[in-house]
Amino acid sequence: MTTPIHIKPAAASASPNTSSIHDHFRSLRRKESAALDHIRQPKILHPIENEDLRLLILENISQEAVQTFKAQGYHVDHHTKAFSEEELIEKIGSYHAIGIRSKTKITKRVLAAASKLLVIGCFCIGTNQVDLDAAAQAGIPVFNSPFSNSRSVAELVVSELVALSRQYFERSFEMRNGIWNKQSKNCWELRGKTLGIVGYGHIGAQLSVLAEAFGMRVLFYDVINIMPLGSARQVESLQVLLSQSDFVTLHVPELPETINMISKRELSQMKKGAYLINNARGRVVDIPALIDALKSKHLAGAAVDVFPFEPAANGAGFDDQLNAWSSELRTIPNVILTPHIGGSTEEAQRMIGDEVSQALSRYLNYGSTIAAVNFPEVDLRAITAEQGTAVRICHVHKNQPGVLRQVNDALSPYNVEKQYSDSKGDIAYLMVDISDVCPADYGKLRERISGTDANILTRFLA
Ligand SMILES: NC(=O)c1ccc[n+]([C@@H]2O[C@H](COP(=O)([O-])OP(=O)(O)OC[C@H]3O[C@@H](n4cnc5c(N)ncnc54)[C@H](O)[C@@H]3O)[C@@H](O)[C@H]2O)c1
Repeated sequence: MTTPIHIKPAAASASPNTSSIHDHFRSLRRKESAALDHIRQPKILHPIENEDLRLLILENISQEAVQTFKAQGYHVDHHTKAFSEEELIEKIGSYHAIGIRSKTKITKRVLAAASKLLVIGCFCIGTNQVDLDAAAQAGIPVFNSPFSNSRSVAELVVSELVALSRQYFERSFEMRNGIWNKQSKNCWELRGKTLGIVGYGHIGAQLSVLAEAFGMRVLFYDVINIMPLGSARQVESLQVLLSQSDFVTLHVPELPETINMISKRELSQMKKGAYLINNARGRVVDIPALIDALKSKHLAGAAVDVFPFEPAANGAGFDDQLNAWSSELRTIPNVILTPHIGGSTEEAQRMIGDEVSQALSRYLNYGSTIAAVNFPEVDLRAITAEQGTAVRICHVHKNQPGVLRQVNDALSPYNVEKQYSDSKGDIAYLMVDISDVCPADYGKLRERISGTDANILTRFLA
């Protein structure tokens, strides 16, 4: 049986004098903070026209995200499966927002049927499943969560550094086959070794901190100059990084210039006995060249989590039909192969849920498009609670001359507290806060702005 824990009450103050001085300052601080709270308290905005916002949430998106939406008073329809195009076309017309993962495709046809749709949330990393351009043309921003799994990837890399340098992956495999093979030859500590990070973004920077905690010396190469964390050092070229590192790990996006960025020449520039880790994108490494470098023992090992072609579903499928070199790669010792699990953790899934649900709520309630993938990124500081009669106007329009003049003409009877506009391609987005607007004017003003020739979508929040 467990013993109950008794929490001791805080000791009484040493003297009545000290106590009363503390009480005095405490009370002063409370008053100050109450006054500041009042000044800074943001006003909770609500869409004026569509009070009862309806959300369609598909593909088993986290319950926490669903609860967040419900707590804000949205009507939420939650389904665990993906919808087909036809199902979407039939149902989407009554929803203001949709949350999907990678299986639901939001095509041009779906968007044409989405007459009320304001925003799309992709509760995942990629957004290929959405016709981003058509969504933008319809005035619909799309949000995703590209960096919520950075820590998960960085931790996987740390584990791979240890697994490769101690060959324990091999030893474990042997033990599973009943083989006892205790050895220390060519097994190393990480302490004092050099880690070369290619791409010092979200993942590379996290990894840099973790590696230094192991006593590693960290070098990185990036196309932009970045302030190093800890004692890491940026080097001037990929070649310098390759020639000095005991471990090279790749964290660049797939771009025309990063495809096959590690090929025969780069592999030959790596130190003999070094290790290569690729958790970035499959086409960043020329795998046949990597196989040669491993077979010739120029490299001592590699870890590969991403491949040029990856099976669409779990099960058998990682074979030579998919990638011609699969079976050859599978036979090489001290090579760790994982099925694109770098970012696959419970924590990352939870963060995706939090991040995307917050982005959707911020857009629906406050009009902010910060971090939208297909839209100009615009935000305004909050309307405070004491600005009772202020109204926020969110105006998505075609990016053409004369729009701001027309809108500002309509706004001229009111005081414009703040406004900000930006454009991306054909689409522009203007956010304006105006004060002292009588609710009876809302309809007339909205009609005037949405009646301008470049208008795509105009929303009022108050
Ligand atoms: N294995 C997985 O499950 C998994 C999970 C998440 C991300 N990723 C992949 O990891 C990669 C990095 O992700 P991130 O979130 O750190 O991205 P990021 O955008 O934060 O950082 C990428 C960095 O690479 C740099 N870069 C771009 N081109 C370069 C070049 N030619 N040479 C050197 N540096 C270059 C950029 O300047 C940037 O600093 C991406 O390809 C991403 O798709 C994989």
